[in-house]
Amino acid sequence: MNDNDTHVALVTGAARRIGAEIARRLHAAGYRVMIHCHHSRDEAAALARELNGRRPGSAAIIQGDLRDARVPGRLVDAVIAQWQRLDLVVNNASRFYPTPVADAGLETWNDLFDTNLRAPFLLAQAAAAHLAATRGSIVNIVDIHGERPLKNHAIYSTTKAGLDMLTRALAKELAPEVRVNGVSPGAILWPENGLTEKTKQEIVSSTPLQELGSPVDIADAVLFLARSHFITGQVIAVDGGRSL
Ligand SMILES: NC(=O)c1ccc[n+]([C@@H]2O[C@H](COP(=O)([O-])OP(=O)(O)OC[C@H]3O[C@@H](n4cnc5c(N)ncnc54)[C@H](OP(=O)(O)O)[C@@H]3O)[C@@H](O)[C@H]2O)c1
Repeated sequence: MNDNDTHVALVTGAARRIGAEIARRLHAAGYRVMIHCHHSRDEAAALARELNGRRPGSAAIIQGDLRDARVPGRLVDAVIAQWQRLDLVVNNASRFYPTPVADAGLETWNDLFDTNLRAPFLLAQAAAAHLAATRGSIVNIVDIHGERPLKNHAIYSTTKAGLDMLTRALAKELAPEVRVNGVSPGAILWPENGLTEKTKQEIVSSTPLQELGSPVDIADAVLFLARSHFITGQVIAVDGGRSL
């Protein structure tokens, strides 16, 4: 295959954790990968070095705060400038923290909504024509709490409910050229701001498969949806049965 025919993916929030695994999995499947990061530039650069070590010129990084409405367009422009095509956008970057109703202010509302919901919309808008040209697709990383709210996380849960709807709405609007799907993780990696051991135990014991998932499970589902030709507007829960 000519290098210009190699598929290109843009993965947001790809420096660490689940996003990094998605980037690695897509790269292993042959994609060239634009690794987007915000604060984690060193981790993003290390990941790009790792991937370029396997196939030179197959990974690059771009930094940007997705709360800035100009950034989604800049990310797409950077991919096109680098590789002149775009086949897949994975909206993985997200903010997650509690917002008890009594304390939540407009700033937290905007922080969560701008990152988790507005940015995926603006990225879809900026990427649509390029994805149409390659018959590409979008995969949004949602959350099972977009369907069943997480206590004290009303704003986060609502952003993810919006992302679930955005997935289906865009699937309808961007068809037939562009497919849009989602993956809804259950408990995969504990949040870094800490949960008590008791809460962790409760989450695992309320999961029918009785364990945490792994970032690989999410990355596999993303790749499956990216490769499928006849699936659009679907959000697959990868949650060990927790949403049952
Ligand atoms: N972890 C889980 O078990 C779980 C469960 C359900 C759903 N999910 C979903 O799965 C996805 C990945 O989860 P995760 O736990 O790996 O995510 P995470 O570590 O909480 O965040 C992923 C990345 O998002 C980026 N990000 C946050 N705000 C940003 C902003 N304003 N602009 C640009 N980038 C920003 C950060 O990049 P930098 O580090 O570069 O700043 C961060 O590394 C998320 O969509 C999450 O909602 C995860």
